[in-house]
Amino acid sequence: MLDAEVRELMQPFVLSDYQVQEVYSRFCLEVARGLKRSTHPQANVKCFPTYVHDLPTGDEMGKYLALDLGGTNFRVLLVSLKGHHDATVDSQIYAVPKDLMVGPGVDLFDHIAGCLAKFVEKHDMKTAYLPLGFTFSFPCVQQGLKEGILVRWTKGFDCAGVEGEDVGRMLHEAIQRRGDADIAVVAILNDTTGTLMSCAHRNADCRVGVIVGTGCNACYVEDAENVDLLRADLKKTKRSVIVNAEWGAFGEGGQLDFVRTEYDREIDEKSLNRSEQLFEKMTAGMYLGNLVRLVLLRALERKLIFKQSSRRPEFASVLQRNEEVFETRYISEIEDDSFPEFASTRKIVKNLFGLEKASVEDCQTLRYICECVAKRAATLVAIGVSGLVNRTSNRRVIVGMDGSVYRYHPKFDAYMRQTLQKLVKADKEWDIMLSEDGSGRGAALVAAVASKTK
Ligand code: BGC
Repeated sequence: MLDAEVRELMQPFVLSDYQVQEVYSRFCLEVARGLKRSTHPQANVKCFPTYVHDLPTGDEMGKYLALDLGGTNFRVLLVSLKGHHDATVDSQIYAVPKDLMVGPGVDLFDHIAGCLAKFVEKHDMKTAYLPLGFTFSFPCVQQGLKEGILVRWTKGFDCAGVEGEDVGRMLHEAIQRRGDADIAVVAILNDTTGTLMSCAHRNADCRVGVIVGTGCNACYVEDAENVDLLRADLKKTKRSVIVNAEWGAFGEGGQLDFVRTEYDREIDEKSLNRSEQLFEKMTAGMYLGNLVRLVLLRALERKLIFKQSSRRPEFASVLQRNEEVFETRYISEIEDDSFPEFASTRKIVKNLFGLEKASVEDCQTLRYICECVAKRAATLVAIGVSGLVNRTSNRRVIVGMDGSVYRYHPKFDAYMRQTLQKLVKADKEWDIMLSEDGSGRGAALVAAVASKTK
């Protein structure tokens, strides 16, 4: 049985039906404001048009390189599209050292080009001409498929000299500086677009792409006539376009203040990007572990957990010393654990605090804290997804999803479905599908579809 006081502690994380409806209405309004030219400058959900107008047919063929920057890792991929909805992907993960994440932008791009060169060399492709799709998962204004002006860094990146610049050009220049391979940057895309494209490659009804990983965002297919920012000629000739919502920034106009907690405010205040990406800070993997850490600190202070232990001050100082000590993946592991053994939970508690054999009650309390934080994140994500699903003109809508939180949390999908059931219009038929390698296959598909329609 859970302590009434523990429930009370977590109450601010439990969204009422009224709050869910209210966040939903505010979100839909922001999307509409992002799409309209007159309100776009003030809107926080920017809804950037992507220049991707056509979904894949499944017949796409050819070899493409893809780069994936924007999560925890940086990856280089070689994608072979084989027609018949089929593709093979060969990839390599490279670390992005922490100092490069906040150093001069040129160094970051030189590092990327260096990894790319190693990959091409290893695959014996130095002499081949290779088109490359660059999955660059940060908010960008696109003026064409190959051009993306970085609006702001997110997720702990803060490299000087990149905001306001075209990242396609910066990558091209870094490749030229090395001069050791014939690689052409043919498309820049967001990871959400990659997710949508890779799911549409398998299921023609996919219209929404969502990432809940290190960061959180979504894109969807919008009728071209509703996208004011789309170039006039494209508005006339294209029926639809993928819109990158950049919903991570939702709440920057105060729309979420009525549901944000003291813990959310603390996370924001101590972040690199203060007052920015407020929705992201409530939903993404980069922040969820930290939220649990802050709640745990409060629980220790109020003697609501580890009641039997005299070492509570010591546990508190472990949590205080390091913001990243409670990793987001622990939330998934704890929610996946079985009662009453709590084997993983006890292991995590032991590793964190050196406490052998946490009590069943402690494990239950910890699990409830994790559950409330994760469930709120899933509910918020589902509110956004519902808003986008309801906007699309299709009756049947598949939502393509990816990201470590969605992929590895045992109940994120189920939590999301509960809210989608409440909010998606009754005349829509919807489902969620897991994306397979959106950043790689998706990038190749964007490059392939773009060259097909030229
Ligand atoms: C970025 C988005 C990206 C998301 C998921 C956010 O921080 O602004 O562009 O799609 O993270 O990676």
